[in-house]
Amino acid sequence: GSPFFHYADGHLMAEGLALADLARQHGTPLFVYSQAALLDALAAYQRGLAGRDTLICYAMKANSTLGLLQTLVQAGCGLDIVSGGELVRALRSGVDPGHIVFSGVGKSRLEMRQALQAGIGCFNVESLAELEVLNHEALALGRQAPVSLRVNPDVDARTHPYISTGLKANKFGIAHEQALAAYRRAAALPGLRVLGIDCHIGSQITDSAPYLDALERVLDLVQALEQEGIALEHIDLGGGLGITYLDETPPAADRLLAQVLQRLDARGCRHRLLLEPGRSLVGNAGVCLTEVLYQKPGAEKNFLIIDAAMNDLPRPALYQAYHAIVPLQLDTDATPVQYEVVGPVCESGDWIGRERTLAVRTGDWLAVCSAGAYCMSMASNYNSRGRAAEVLVAGQSAQLIRQRENPDDSLGLEPPLGF
Ligand code: LLP
Repeated sequence: GSPFFHYADGHLMAEGLALADLARQHGTPLFVYSQAALLDALAAYQRGLAGRDTLICYAMKANSTLGLLQTLVQAGCGLDIVSGGELVRALRSGVDPGHIVFSGVGKSRLEMRQALQAGIGCFNVESLAELEVLNHEALALGRQAPVSLRVNPDVDARTHPYISTGLKANKFGIAHEQALAAYRRAAALPGLRVLGIDCHIGSQITDSAPYLDALERVLDLVQALEQEGIALEHIDLGGGLGITYLDETPPAADRLLAQVLQRLDARGCRHRLLLEPGRSLVGNAGVCLTEVLYQKPGAEKNFLIIDAAMNDLPRPALYQAYHAIVPLQLDTDATPVQYEVVGPVCESGDWIGRERTLAVRTGDWLAVCSAGAYCMSMASNYNSRGRAAEVLVAGQSAQLIRQRENPDDSLGLEPPLGF
């Protein structure tokens, strides 16, 4: 269904290149990204925000490989980071440090100092305790930390049960009722400069309604704050817009943003708007190529054993997530069979697709689709498997943007026992 990953003469292509050629050249498992797909996803946001004072801070936790960061940063994105490790990667991408926002419930003092020294644009603070620590660290460095408070809008779970992070019951953000008091405290601390307000209500959201509900709740607070003399410069609505994995129909970013801007205008809000999209920028811009190692007919189920596993693609094991699985070459000779598509890792939870009908043979290549977000960035070395290689395609060109990890890469961190 994607113009960037499509079949031509029975061969699955990434833009102008046959994926089978990339699998042959680089081996499998292999992540392949389409640069045009990334920029196309970003363009929907940029269209929706055209003519406004905004900053799109890509939530790099979705995929933090440098080649993708550089692509998005060069196209105008800032970055949303959640750790010191992401800060280092972000700075390496060439992003303007002032275009970095730092999210997360558990920033360490060291991470705060590193981010203060780098001169990031905003700390998205999640608790009163964090406010105090950040104030202390900023004063110790002779600086003022720019802050936004992440408020928890407590969007009604009964009407939108798929929202997981915007509810009272979870660890994220400052409760709506405590937000005013937290802002008063922040405004009184000399090491802090109150800059904005932020929220993030969840991920893989496929409906505009919860966004708009959360926005209204946030705007209520913005007005209450202004009545108290606490003026904000920006409103950060977080990320969360979903993508199509199977048959989901999320709103297009530009359509959703039109609704958001309408609500802002209706209240006369002229604040700078920040967004932190992750999945919706990269999710459908990548696939994971894998080889069929074995066909294993079973008493109850037929297993198709592939060379990608839960350490490469953790979402099915973690969330029972669905990723489409398609052959790189449409082979009309093989008989279609229903398979459990599984990896080599020693766990029954190591499955990639359930009840998938595929016409394939041993040695064939498959693409696991919608693998651009939360796959490589959540990959592990479980079973001492090296992490996969990654390739970025642009038109007829391809560049290896991350080498395949080999056992020496991790063994190098482990000195031989000395006693
Ligand atoms: N901002 C904040 C504060 C977040 O916590 C997140 C994601 C984002 C932005 C980006 O959200 P997105 O636009 O990607 O939905 N590993 C899970 C998803 C975890 C999302 C965590 N927070 C998965 O694979 O589905």
